[in-house]
Amino acid sequence: MIGPTGPVRNSRQARISPIILLYAGHNHQTMHLTADEERTLAGEEGLGRQRAIELLVALGDIYGAEGLVPIASAQVSGASYKTIGDAGIGWLEDMAQEARASVRATVNPLGMDLRRWRSMGIDPKFQAKQIRITAAYLAMGLEPLYSCTPYLSGNRPKRGQHLAWAESSATVFANSYLGAKTNREGGPSALAAAIIGKTAMYGLHLDENRTPKVRIVLDEIGPGYVPLAGYLAGKVAGNRIPEIQCDKLTPDEHKSFGAALAATSAVSMYVHRLRGDERRPGENCIEEVVEIGADELSRCAEDLSGDDDWDLAAVGCPHCSPKELMRMATVLKGRKPRKECDVWFCTSRSVYAQCPEAVRTLKRFGKVLCDTCMVVSPIEEMFKRTVTDSGKAIVYLPTLGRQRASFRTTDQLLEAISR
Ligand code: F3S
Repeated sequence: MIGPTGPVRNSRQARISPIILLYAGHNHQTMHLTADEERTLAGEEGLGRQRAIELLVALGDIYGAEGLVPIASAQVSGASYKTIGDAGIGWLEDMAQEARASVRATVNPLGMDLRRWRSMGIDPKFQAKQIRITAAYLAMGLEPLYSCTPYLSGNRPKRGQHLAWAESSATVFANSYLGAKTNREGGPSALAAAIIGKTAMYGLHLDENRTPKVRIVLDEIGPGYVPLAGYLAGKVAGNRIPEIQCDKLTPDEHKSFGAALAATSAVSMYVHRLRGDERRPGENCIEEVVEIGADELSRCAEDLSGDDDWDLAAVGCPHCSPKELMRMATVLKGRKPRKECDVWFCTSRSVYAQCPEAVRTLKRFGKVLCDTCMVVSPIEEMFKRTVTDSGKAIVYLPTLGRQRASFRTTDQLLEAISR
């Protein structure tokens, strides 16, 4: 390891990119780079890798990281034309001229299903812009898995591995259920990490920052209310990692709980303990204990219940797992579609391919969409009132999607779309 030298600091400042300018004035220069990293920073491996490592070093300096740490994979957000716009396309196409991913990297959902965009009602102009984004990611060597659940499709990290994942629901699942270590990256920093194969070692990469500070005891979670439990737990947690004490959760319940928690809080991790578990690691760090009872969950369901008339019923935030698709197909088998509103079941293309029979059943009731979701697609161009079973989508639909949003449990929603 060699420390930053005077000339290197000058070269960092001389080649500063527009994104790094955002952080101007915060250069603490705490990072120690290896000789190879210094060479990358000096531009000896090309402009693309130089710009990528500049970004990582700038972030590391801001957050007081001592160095970079190798990552097992990256998951890059900022893939829908709706969310990144023309400026984002320009930046990605620019990076794609020069840079290639050096570790496994997948991408967050796009603004449309790449095959069924016409039937979704997507404008061809939007589609053309969206294709430029996927072309840039492909040129950089990212896998064409456009999903917030890469861990269901082969990109499943092992306990203790360092990652650079950007999607908030995936980040919280990786930290809390899989035991991997990742901060909630921004799209550009996750892409930079994918290119370099490393990320700055700060935040949740350090064990001392993974200790819960608040204990949240969930007495009893009624059927379908796990997303609401995450929604309320996030409001209590704020910016403190919570220890969640509740009954056993399935992996899919962890997925929906964590997504909602990350949507209503600033944290990307929780520690799950069974109710009555006597082990108390980090006991002294717990500043507060909060109980959330069954009546509070019912009140929350009522508060978020909204209208009974919907243009769209949207399931699959985060993207549905094979088990979720199969369970819904089992519930709907033998029933008939009501057809009073459009229905979207959102999943990844890889999970879609794993469940042909379930997909066939669900298609009788609505569209089974891949590569996209109800939040990052231009839903506001097509619908005004959406019902969802997701504790994350209920947060973002009114803002990003400009929807009058309603919450129902998955079973209530399946009941409503069928007879
Ligand atoms: Fe995934 Fe879209 Fe929800 S990215 S977590 S389905 S908002």
